[in-house]
Amino acid sequence: MTTEINIGLEGVLVGATAISNVEGDIGRLSYRGQDIHALSQQSLAAVIALVLADKQLTEDEAKAFDAWLAAESELGAVELRVLEQLGRGLHPMAVLQALAPITDTQARNPLPAFLPKELEKALVLAAKQSAIVRAWHNLCQFGSLVELPAGLGFAEKLLYAFNRAQPSAHAVRALETVQILQMDHSFNAGTFAGRVVASTKASLAASIGGSLGALSGPLHGGADEAAVMMAREIGSADQAAAWVSTALANKVKIMGMGHREYRRLDPRAAILKPMARQFCEGTQYQGLMDTLVAVEEACQDEFGKKGKEIHANLEFYKGAVYLALGISEPYFTSLFACARVFGWTAHFFEFNQDPRLIRPRALYIGK
Ligand code: COA
Repeated sequence: MTTEINIGLEGVLVGATAISNVEGDIGRLSYRGQDIHALSQQSLAAVIALVLADKQLTEDEAKAFDAWLAAESELGAVELRVLEQLGRGLHPMAVLQALAPITDTQARNPLPAFLPKELEKALVLAAKQSAIVRAWHNLCQFGSLVELPAGLGFAEKLLYAFNRAQPSAHAVRALETVQILQMDHSFNAGTFAGRVVASTKASLAASIGGSLGALSGPLHGGADEAAVMMAREIGSADQAAAWVSTALANKVKIMGMGHREYRRLDPRAAILKPMARQFCEGTQYQGLMDTLVAVEEACQDEFGKKGKEIHANLEFYKGAVYLALGISEPYFTSLFACARVFGWTAHFFEFNQDPRLIRPRALYIGK
């Protein structure tokens, strides 16, 4: 009997997956064998179908699926009543977690026939995460729901609701890209938490509830919000080097920097950084973007002095893009959840093809 403990499970193989492949050593990410760079050019609906059903949709099918997702991304009267009762100070991640088990998964329209019928209820639950975030934002910010014109796409609805205005095609494309980049990432903490819950034969909603809880933490999805708060605290690019040096000397973690798997480059950050630059240029977020760039450079300098490497992860520049799209800090992680929920759902189905209760051992050190 071995007594070696590995609390963080670094490098421990705890299962197999065919959904996404994180090749940390070469900075590569792929879903179902397709590189994330190519996928980030596809439509959000097409990538959802690929991740969940391993199916490559035609352009027409992707449009039909997007319209279906948009239509299902609406709350019923009961769900809305529950939301209206919640205290307005609640973080959107807590709201998502609260609603997961009581969400009605009855589809309004049948799932298009080119996708497997057994995914229908799961996809309704996943699509409704966006509806919850939209509704919660509108209730907290505007006091009532924003009325949406008919015919908006799945991602377009989110941007319209947040901005109370028709988003440009460029903005919708940017949101779709960000959501594609964060849809799945192998056995990250949130996905693994969901698999643990699924292993008890609990429902998909329960599994998603577990994943949401894990994602909310600042070492995971919460790092997006924390990175922007850090940049705001630093104030300007010229303060970054001194701030980083003091932070590292005090063993403070720089949010959005570093990754357990990607030791050389996070390919998602490589796509996001130029996007963030482009979206923030000439806007009120230009200064914030400059500060983030200066923080990344200062981190790399400081780590370089010790002969180590550190790089920005997905979370570092994502917030700058979200802000430029009209999505404010408290909603960043919940938007992440709106994308990652499709990955969690894919893992739920994959896990249940060959399920086994996940129940590790602990070393007893008590009396
Ligand atoms: N800021 C400061 N130091 C960092 C760092 C960060 N963001 N990320 C890693 N390091 C340092 C650690 O302090 C450690 O230094 P040491 O060897 O002197 O002890 C070394 O780099 C290795 O880090 P470690 O925390 O062991 O790596 P990990 O695999 O456990 O951590 C993260 C991965 C993501 C938890 C870590 O990089 C982190 O906390 N990042 C900030 C939070 C974040 O952005 N999370 C989102 C991930 S997508």
